[in-house]
Amino acid sequence: MCGIIGITSNENVSADIIGALRKLEYRGYDSAGIAIHESNKIFQRKVKGKLDNLVKSLELEKSEGKTGIGHTRWATHGKPSERNAHPHSSPYVSLVHNGIIENVSDLKNLAELEEYSFESETDSEVITALLSHYRKEGYAHIDCVKETISKLVGSYALAIIFSDQKESIFGAKNGSPLVAGINNSGTSLGSDSIALSSVAEKVCYLEDGDIVVCNKNILEIFNIAGEKVEREFVDIGFDETDISKGNFQHFMEKEIHEHPQAVGETFKQFIDHDKGLITVSDFELDFTSFSRIHLIACGTAYYSCLVAKYYFEEYARIPVDCDMASEYRYRNPVLDKNALCIFVSQSGETADTKAALDYSKSLGIKTLSIVNVKNSSIARESDLCMYTKAGAEIGVASTKAFTAQLSVLLSMAIHLGTINKTLSENQNKEICHEIMKAPTLLEEAIKRSYSLKETAQSIINAKGVMYLGRGTSFPLALEGALKFKEISYIHAEGYPAGEMKHGPLALIEKDLPVVCIVPPGELFHKTVSNIQEVIARGGKILMITDDDTLQSGSENIWQVFRLPKSPKSIETIIYSVPIHMLAYYTAVELGNDVDQPRNLAKSVTVE
Ligand code: M6R
Repeated sequence: MCGIIGITSNENVSADIIGALRKLEYRGYDSAGIAIHESNKIFQRKVKGKLDNLVKSLELEKSEGKTGIGHTRWATHGKPSERNAHPHSSPYVSLVHNGIIENVSDLKNLAELEEYSFESETDSEVITALLSHYRKEGYAHIDCVKETISKLVGSYALAIIFSDQKESIFGAKNGSPLVAGINNSGTSLGSDSIALSSVAEKVCYLEDGDIVVCNKNILEIFNIAGEKVEREFVDIGFDETDISKGNFQHFMEKEIHEHPQAVGETFKQFIDHDKGLITVSDFELDFTSFSRIHLIACGTAYYSCLVAKYYFEEYARIPVDCDMASEYRYRNPVLDKNALCIFVSQSGETADTKAALDYSKSLGIKTLSIVNVKNSSIARESDLCMYTKAGAEIGVASTKAFTAQLSVLLSMAIHLGTINKTLSENQNKEICHEIMKAPTLLEEAIKRSYSLKETAQSIINAKGVMYLGRGTSFPLALEGALKFKEISYIHAEGYPAGEMKHGPLALIEKDLPVVCIVPPGELFHKTVSNIQEVIARGGKILMITDDDTLQSGSENIWQVFRLPKSPKSIETIIYSVPIHMLAYYTAVELGNDVDQPRNLAKSVTVE
């Protein structure tokens, strides 16, 4: 989604703004722009498309200014174009905005804005119009910001420069994330702390209602009532290597290779090495008081919830409901006061998940979040938070965050089962032992998955791909299909293998690739029968199984991909690797933009 940046410094800021915008590229965007204070004017450049276009236009005419703002835009109101790109400027002010203003038409009808001539189709320009009106009326700069935001309905993170205030950037936040940064040479604003990693040493996660004024040597924050407030600044906690591709061609490739580390580090938080047990007792939750668990998330994080339903019900015998966050609060769910609502999110900023969290809190339900980005909005706003330790995930397609989410959810289910006595301490110990093998098994799964490059080459011309599985392999099939379609742009569908004959079998035609996730166990033979039904109709099966399953059952199968034998408890985590690799190799083979697939954003901050 849109990324905003503002930097004021002792040095020229143009290169720093571009550098920070590069770090926001991962969020997804379709145009970009910059506005910088110069001695007698505001220098502005806007382009459609990638940042390289902006860099090229800056090569033609450099800016020497020391205070400026920048933007990467992901279109909501108005198509991607230079005209709709931010900053939106008037003779009084230049502004960048992330979020959505919902009362644009009401605002445009205000008498105050009668004379303003709108140039773009965006919702954001109405903010420029309001700020300009108040400045023209002689309001002090900060009062222009206060008056303007008091009129806005919707979400916003803003960075604003006024033409006649050369050394300050004003920021304001409601609903969309905004981080303020400081270092020795100046102060900054950004949509996340990654963006500020080369211009700030310490950062502060601003709260809704905050207005911030950034000057070279001082950064002041005011609350909604206009009172000055002190907020905590913390070490930025990112090092450049966390957010570079290293020796990999793409972030997604690097992040798939980080599955072992992400899972190992995440599980580590819950392993009591002295007792050899999994325990999440460090978290002040009386798990025995919950009658039901609601798991709520979007996209890949939602699929981790679907897998976790099997974990909680199997190990802890506690009923679980899973909801897509975008549906949850609109279906008037029946919630028990003794329920626990768990929100899962890599970014911790997904607007639908955050709105679902707010809704649950408003009903007085206990909330817990499982989040990867430290200090993100969802992490801060939930009653309790557990972190996945996946490290920065930059590729739009989520990979290592998924297996890290499964690691937290599995640990919780084992812990809860032990408390509920649906799992004995010995069983807990056994699973704890199995969990410790996960990083090594994941390493091996990665090595074996290199062979899927060839498989990918033979499916790039497919009209579509089906993914099938039973048990926890069903949500993994959904995850496989999502990953495949989002970066290959080929239609893919995940389905429970046993349901095929109730409709989707009609889709099977000669040579349609069908990826079947078939670990050993009680569902193996049933799934193999479903495979044969697909083969009988011409489907081309890629069977993902392990070293231990029988060779029989693999007759007429196009390809069998074998993983190392893995314990049942961590099977879905290990099987995620070939699923992610196949999507990756296919997208690379097709020459697609793997890390920033078309139309998508990493952090979806609008509902
Ligand atoms: O940051 P979140 O985990 O809340 O994001 C949720 C989804 O937007 C995300 O998983 C999305 O579906 C990914 N692009 C899938 O690869």
